[in-house]
Amino acid sequence: MRITVKRFSLGFLVLFAGMQLFQIDKTVPAKDLSNDLMRMASPPGEVASLLKVACYDCHSYQTEYPWYANVAPVSWWIAHHIEEGREHLNFSIWGTYTGSDQLEFLHECAEEVEEGHMPLPSYTWGHRAAKLTDYQRDLLKNWFNSGLIGMKHR
Ligand code: HEC
Repeated sequence: MRITVKRFSLGFLVLFAGMQLFQIDKTVPAKDLSNDLMRMASPPGEVASLLKVACYDCHSYQTEYPWYANVAPVSWWIAHHIEEGREHLNFSIWGTYTGSDQLEFLHECAEEVEEGHMPLPSYTWGHRAAKLTDYQRDLLKNWFNSGLIGMKHR
């Protein structure tokens, strides 16, 4: 019995070590910061820090990876969220979206935040600061709803 447990543990260790060979790709394309939402829409300080803390890790090229993003298989799961997040909406390339896409995104952002779908609930396990209070949700929602004011867009 003990031998079996030992073998199993060893097998798991070898598998786990093997997984570490497959690190995620953290490289991003060269950034043109002038297309970033923050630069274009200049949100007020409180909104800007909420966006950074609650959205930018998945919806921009300015991802700040936690230490566990170096540990497979968790890292694969994180990388998948980031890839998918950027694919749907990337605040770093905000200026390249058409005006009507921007409007649509702002509308969706307000909705996702209001309904509590974003930031992804799983994200807030490791990022307590991204667990939004009702006040913070309202703040973000209202900003998204009025977000085009004063924004340069095409
Ligand atoms: C942990 C990563 C992560 C974080 C943090 C996150 N998102 Fe997302 N977001 C995703 C993923 C993945 C999708 C696509 C799949 C889905 O809709 O669940 C998505 C989809 C969306 C969509 C839908 C876009 C479309 O085209 O359908 C909007 C809008 C959105 N997120 C806004 C936000 C906002 C606003 C924040 C911050 C308050 C935020 N997200 C934080 C990962 C994230």
